[in-house]
Amino acid sequence: MTQAPTELAEEVRAQVKDKKSYLGVIDRLNKASVDKHWEAYRDIPWDDPDFQVDKNDPRWILSPATDPLGASDWYKAQPPEIQAQIGLWRVATAMKIGLQFENLLKRGLLNYAYRLPNGRPEFRYVYHETTEECHHGMMFQEFVNRTKMPIKGMPRSLSAVAQVAPWIPLVNTELFFVFVLGGEDPIDFVQRKSLKGGHIKHPLEETIMKIHIAEEARHISFARHYLKHRVPNMNPIRRRILGLVTPIILGIMARIMLSPPGPLVRRFNIPKDVVREAYDTEESRAQIRDCVGKIRDLMAELDLITLPNRQLWKAFGIWDAPRKPGAKAA
Ligand SMILES: [Fe+2]
Ligand SMILES: [Fe+2]
Repeated sequence: MTQAPTELAEEVRAQVKDKKSYLGVIDRLNKASVDKHWEAYRDIPWDDPDFQVDKNDPRWILSPATDPLGASDWYKAQPPEIQAQIGLWRVATAMKIGLQFENLLKRGLLNYAYRLPNGRPEFRYVYHETTEECHHGMMFQEFVNRTKMPIKGMPRSLSAVAQVAPWIPLVNTELFFVFVLGGEDPIDFVQRKSLKGGHIKHPLEETIMKIHIAEEARHISFARHYLKHRVPNMNPIRRRILGLVTPIILGIMARIMLSPPGPLVRRFNIPKDVVREAYDTEESRAQIRDCVGKIRDLMAELDLITLPNRQLWKAFGIWDAPRKPGAKAA
């Protein structure tokens, strides 16, 4: 059994000046995938008495720091069991949406790898990433099953539209890796913030999150360096399309990941004005803006933010002045 990581893994950050440095990053990521990886049914002690999921466990109660609903008077007035059930529902929904996104992602990675010529270094890394994502899908689904709650993931209409995602690499691989970052970066941002703030109280959730952060750091590194390597040599028309589509994808994805699920609102009869007051605030808008901060900085570094498409970033509520490369995140 491999212990869950004790410290939060950092991403590989390298300058991609030339092909050699890009290949160096892939080598490091391949090695890290062999040296440190976790398996859903080997490395998580599902049967440990401390790891059992009880929907009335007060450790599921929402922290106002991670979910603004937790700060509302309506929520605080609920009995502790209902507060716990709402908190658990929220965690499980995030995992369900996460595993659905990763299912699309895996199919897209395999479509990308299918067409790679022999000898391409990306092939091996993409297979490592797909293997890791299979374990993430299993651990997320096992968690959802153990809640015994009727958790739904993405809304049906969105799930139907999302089925195009695995085919994006056949048309534009750069756009596909923007989609990858659009799903992985916001979740990673929220998970790191929750863990660093000490808001995760249940050991099962903590273990799953730590394993996920450690492996996602590599996936995010690969997508970032792939884009750094490829975008500067893109044909100008494809590049312009990428610049226009990116804020639309990011704006939609950040909202899906962070907004409250409809079935939860209906199940617990949460009044509409409570939902509005909790999530339609400057703080929530800042959270959406901040969670795509790293991708926005990357897009600026790659000269993909132009005057006209900056309006799209603003329209989707995800604009903020990009930080210069090398500047430390706040
Ligand atoms: Fe994952
Ligand atoms: Fe991933």
